[in-house]
Amino acid sequence: MEYQNVLVGISGGIAVYKVCDLVSQLSKRNKNVKVIMTEHAAKFVGPVTFEALSHNPVAVQMFDEGTDPIPHITLAQWADVFILAPATANVIAKAVHGMADDLLSSTMLALTCPKIMCPAMNTHMLENPATVRNIAQAEKDGWNIVMPEYGHLACMESGKGRLPKTDVLLDAIEQAAAEHPLKGLHVLISAGPTQEALDPVRFLSNHSSGKQGYAIAKAAARMGAEVRLVSGPVALDRIDGVQTIPVKSARDMQQAVEENFDWADFIIMAAAVADYRPKQTAEQKIKKHEGSMMVEFVKNPDILAGLGAKKKNGQVLCGFAMETENLEKNARAKLESKNCDLLIANNLTTPGAGFQTDTNVVTMMKLDGNEQLPLLSKEELGCRILKEMMEIRKGK
Ligand code: CTP
Repeated sequence: MEYQNVLVGISGGIAVYKVCDLVSQLSKRNKNVKVIMTEHAAKFVGPVTFEALSHNPVAVQMFDEGTDPIPHITLAQWADVFILAPATANVIAKAVHGMADDLLSSTMLALTCPKIMCPAMNTHMLENPATVRNIAQAEKDGWNIVMPEYGHLACMESGKGRLPKTDVLLDAIEQAAAEHPLKGLHVLISAGPTQEALDPVRFLSNHSSGKQGYAIAKAAARMGAEVRLVSGPVALDRIDGVQTIPVKSARDMQQAVEENFDWADFIIMAAAVADYRPKQTAEQKIKKHEGSMMVEFVKNPDILAGLGAKKKNGQVLCGFAMETENLEKNARAKLESKNCDLLIANNLTTPGAGFQTDTNVVTMMKLDGNEQLPLLSKEELGCRILKEMMEIRKGK
């Protein structure tokens, strides 16, 4: 989705004057621009200048009278993309250590959008091991770093430390914003096996690890979506920023998925749902007897088929098919009968595909044709699936 709201954080260095041009160029490109300055930054160029260039009030103080009582949260939520330019050694250190002692640092802590950090300072400050460590850590924490250029510095030295030209900063904004193509979209995913209880100590299940569904959830969150993950019992860590709804049986899963169905724009059924459950769940542990034992099974609801039947315009539905033979024929029949927009078919017997692996080899099936994908990590495949769903959504 095209980004609109650019939040510019300005900390106190001589390069503040260069950011006037950045704000002006963003306004010319019809972006909504808001500026936060530190008090030190406001000593280099007055907030009035940025107010005129951004056509918005400039925020400096945490507690301005008569305005929003929680500006740091409001601004962080408003932003589609954030750029910290220039980023001084002090403000970088604050960002990396999670400090929140003024409006800019508090806002940075509350950001969920893509963010760019543009260090600009004296060469020795830049090369100080503390700053080097902090910038490396910021990158690990998800900041996109635009490193400074060589040139003449305000301290009359030549070296690395100059804030790059406006064009470089504009490109960095474009690139970072493109990383969140799912911003504003709701993605509902099911993952893992279901467990069908036989008695209080036993259940029937399958070998699903949940890895593929969790990998899609991770990819969707990284691409900026709001994600809800309905998960059968798995041995995987919860994913930061993803709302996980734990379930056990197919019927629990059906209820959780259906409760969240209207909320969702994209629905991906990656779970290995048990088709049958024991007709009766014994209240007490079943004791062993002489001879064999019969268990009668009844059919579970087909969750995906139920969703396909009530899918609304604009919703994109993706199913999975796990086959051991006649992959194309069986999987295409599922795509059509369950009214999916996309079906990810894999053959359990293909090397690199299957339940416990970190990779997958799949055929992506749409109504108008198939695409065989190469061996991919489950997260890469997650990205491909989500991109395909975006394309399908555009065509709807
Ligand atoms: N699925 C579902 N509810 C079920 C069974 C399957 O929602 N009771 C979904 C799965 O999450 C998957 C798709 O349907 O997205 C296909 O699942 P799969 O087990 O491959 O196929 P089935 O429809 O169960 O058919 P079969 O077991 O006969 O191959």
